[in-house]
Order: sequence, then C-alpha cells, then structure tokens
Amino acid sequence: MNTLKELAKKLLSRDQLEKLKDWRSRFNLFGLRLLAGSKMLRRFHFAFFSSAFDREANAVVMGKLLHEQNQAGVETTNFFLRRAIHRLEKGLIMQPRRGVFALDYIEKAVDSYARSLSGCVAPDEMSWAHDVLESFFETTASHPIIDAQRKKFDALEKPASRLESLRRQGVGRVPFTAGTTPSVSVDADAFAGMCRERRSVRWYQNRPVPRDIIDRAVELAVQAPSACNRQPYRFLIFDDPVSVAKVSELPMGVAGFSDNFPAMIAIVGRLRAYPHSRDRHVIYIDGGLAAMSFIFALETLGVSSCSINWPDIPERELAASKLLKLEPDERIVMFISIGYAASEGLVPYSQKLALEDARAYGGAELAG
Ligand SMILES: Cc1cc2nc3c(=O)[nH]c(=O)nc-3n(C[C@H](O)[C@H](O)[C@H](O)COP(=O)(O)O)c2cc1C
Repeated sequence: MNTLKELAKKLLSRDQLEKLKDWRSRFNLFGLRLLAGSKMLRRFHFAFFSSAFDREANAVVMGKLLHEQNQAGVETTNFFLRRAIHRLEKGLIMQPRRGVFALDYIEKAVDSYARSLSGCVAPDEMSWAHDVLESFFETTASHPIIDAQRKKFDALEKPASRLESLRRQGVGRVPFTAGTTPSVSVDADAFAGMCRERRSVRWYQNRPVPRDIIDRAVELAVQAPSACNRQPYRFLIFDDPVSVAKVSELPMGVAGFSDNFPAMIAIVGRLRAYPHSRDRHVIYIDGGLAAMSFIFALETLGVSSCSINWPDIPERELAASKLLKLEPDERIVMFISIGYAASEGLVPYSQKLALEDARAYGGAELAG
C-alpha cells in the first residue's frame, strides 16, 4: 500500500493526486454506506477484506483458554474465584437475604477455592475468599447442594494467611454495614479544584519520580471499581531512561515530546478474567477507571501526567507485545507518561463540556 502511494506521488501531478484522493474518499463513503446497510456484507467484509478485529478475536479466544487454567489457582489472582466470591457477597447483602442462593455456582466456587489453597493465589485474596465462603455457609439454610459443599469446605484447611489477616484487620473480610465506615473526609472544594486544575502535562523536569510515589498511586488506582471486582489489569512501569525511550516509540501521539518523559506506564488489560466474549470490553472500562484514580493520586502527590492513546495497528501491536512481553490475552488499554511538570512548559487550555451539554435527565424522553 505504501509503495503504491509512493509511486502515485512520483508519477502524478499535485492536481491529479488531489483528484485521486477525492475519488478515494467518495469510494470509501460509498463502501461504508453499503456496509452500514447490510449485516451480511459487514460479515463478509470483516471475514475476507479487513483484519481489523483479528487480534482482538485472537486475544479473546486466548483469554477464554487461559481463564480455564487460571481458575485452578495457578496465578496470584484467580479471576473465577474473585467473581464467585463477589457474587456471594452480593447474595449476603441482599434485603431480605434469601435462605438459599448460589446453587448454580457454589460447587465450582468451592472447588476453585480448594485448588487455590495449594496454588499461588495471593494470601489476602485467599483470606477474603475464605471469610466470605465461611459467612455464606454459616448463614445459608440446609439444602442438598449447599450441605455437600459446606461439608467439603469445613474439611479444608484454613488459608495460612487467615489468622494474620484477622489480627491485622480485627474482623473478617465480610460484608459490613455502611454506617460503620467513617464518612469520606475529602473536602468537596479541594476535590473540585483538583478536577478543574488537572491538565495533561507533556513537558517535565529532568528528574525521576521516586518509585514509592508511583507505588502509592498504583495502590490507590486499584481501589477503583471494577466489574465483579475482577481487576483485570496490570500496570507496567518503565522509569529508566533506556526503557522509557524504547517504550515511548510504541504509541503514535507523542511525537516531538516523548524524549522528555521521566517515566512511562502501560496499563494492560487481561482478557483471561472472563469466560465470555461479551465481557471483552470490560478491560477498557476497568482499566480506564483505575487510570483516572492513578492520575488523581499522582496529582495529590505533586506528579503530573498525560494519557496516551494506543492505536490498534498490526505492526505496533506486534512491536508492543514483543517489547512488553505481553501474554496472548493481554491488550494495551493505554499508556500514561508521568513526571514533575516543567514550570515553563506550555499546557493546552482544553475547554470542557458545559453541564447542559454533558448531561440529560432522561425520564420524560424514554421511548414507550
Ligand atoms: C485515551 C486517551 C488518549 C490520549 N492520547 C493522547 C496522545 O496520544 N497524545 C497526547 O498528547 N495526548 C493524549 N491524550 C490527552 C488528551 O489530549 C487530553 O486528555 C485532552 O486533550 C484533554 O486535556 P486535559 O487532559 O488536559 O484535560 C489522551 C487522553 C486520553 C484520555
């Protein structure tokens, strides 16, 4: 394609090139209209003429495969178990709480928990799973399916971390009443100030961001909500000049200023968190929510940042997965450059939407 473009540039006059561009965009528009009007044509197009979704489809399939392995507790997080425990938590907080629930997944949950006991799952995750399962079996009524699993659970050893966790926390990791937590003490005006004053900063001082600051921000980022509390992401951090230079070459939107980045972060989504293709977009939502908390946490610590787009382009995807050693189910959500703002560096004003353009109360306009 590029060679054809080069050839056309050499052979054609400026006028002819402009006409050619015009015809191409008309042809593209015509093609789009055809595709927009026919599901069959769309399928045909994406099956035979466009590979735009190939990499995503491959990652989704690999994610499903790895999800099966993951639920045996072979990694520090068990995504199936996390979701199952979260579903139990939701059952436990129900008003009124049902005497019997989780019949369709409790057996799989206990099995996955049992396998994780001798696996690599993080101690805190195992303590949480233990406490919620214990609470479930303590409070549910007798039922053949539940009784069988209760027996199996009671026969299991407790996770080694549990006593330590109880000592530290004072209570189990079980649902609590909202009134027992202190109310949020962040001053509303201070938060509004941070929201209004934060801007993407692209010019940084030539000094590193200490790792304890980055770690603090990541710890806060992972407090963000995520679908069924699965937290399907990793933060890859590059803060030595050689790695930063290499990583900064991957995305497109940083030309002209990437060589002053003190550190680059890649937020990577893990599709093995899901057994269903329908959830393939959740990595971007959960990753985006965590990214915003990360950015705000950095702001409170005096560190500026700029989110950086990751384009789904085959050559770049290949280069990124090689350089970052990504697993086959991992997709880049975004990059973020971070550093201390250079005081003389310019920052775009970036006008925001007015309230009335950003929101609509829909009650009166609902169809039907
Ligand atoms: C997903 C995403 C991708 C972005 N990609 C780039 C990028 O590639 N290069 C860049 O300079 N800025 C990038 N930005 C920063 C936006 O340009 C910036 O957030 C926007 O203009 C609003 O400005 P503000 O962040 O200062 O409020 C990106 C932001 C987001 C959220």
